[in-house]
Amino acid sequence: MSLTNKNLLGIESLSAEEILLILDTAENFKEVSAREIKKVPTLRGKTIINLFYEPSTRTRTSFEIAAKRMSADAINISVSASSTVKGETIKDTARNLEAMKPDCIVVRHASAGTPDMLAKYVDCTVINAGDGAHEHPSQALLDLMTVKECKGHIDGLKVAIIGDITHSRVARSNIIGFSKLGASVVVTGPRTLIPVGIEELGCTVAKDTVSAIKGADVIMMLRIQLERQGDSFLPSLREYATLWGLDKDKLKAAADDVVILHPGPINRGVEISSDVADGEYSLILEQVTNGVAVRMALFYLLLGGPRESSE
Ligand code: CP
Repeated sequence: MSLTNKNLLGIESLSAEEILLILDTAENFKEVSAREIKKVPTLRGKTIINLFYEPSTRTRTSFEIAAKRMSADAINISVSASSTVKGETIKDTARNLEAMKPDCIVVRHASAGTPDMLAKYVDCTVINAGDGAHEHPSQALLDLMTVKECKGHIDGLKVAIIGDITHSRVARSNIIGFSKLGASVVVTGPRTLIPVGIEELGCTVAKDTVSAIKGADVIMMLRIQLERQGDSFLPSLREYATLWGLDKDKLKAAADDVVILHPGPINRGVEISSDVADGEYSLILEQVTNGVAVRMALFYLLLGGPRESSE
């Protein structure tokens, strides 16, 4: 089995079978990162460009590490040092990058739809590394992988996603992804940060944190995205932490074997307390480890390197 599309623009366009194929492939690639020599020749001769118009630590670094572990040439474009600052449009940037014959462009942008637009201008593979409040598909895939590894399955789990749902591409991709694999997803957060009609993505809305996490197998806390919202959404961060933040006390309502995810970066003491973020139920750093494996799997499946050559 292979993926239908040559681009990854969102979880929405993947079938449940395709998601499971990516997760299984990532599990196979994960052991490469545990080797002493962390390199396979699978994508030798391929060129991958990371084009990030927004800051990133985890996503940009793990796409670069994934490319390098597969022997591809990885090029990072720093937008602040590119011709974007001279006024070049995304279309012109894309067409000029395409003229250098890359095999893949990984793009992050503050505007929803930018990866789709880019994909129309170039022939190479385009991977969405996060576009505005739309989607962050590789994040949802690494979250699904982390939960599946720990629980053995996704179907039948109760997943609570808590926080700034309105501005969160991570929430959108995860609601769609977990629902496609048969989990029941509940979201909650301040009313000003829950978009009208969010249920259409396949989730329910709970009135408060404790209701959302009651019996939850998975809790995903979201970062308050101060860069995407004015002051008008929240009276104060202290009030937010009290009402919506996760601490040991609220955690008692969850299932005994609950696991806690957070896409990072964390606002410690706001959406999650440090003792919970660093505690026994947290899989936050495992998510980061799995991010490399998932991105290796995406490169392999989208760019078509022969699997045998990596053995
Ligand atoms: N999870 C995530 O997208 O983190 P970065 O912004 O550091 O890439």
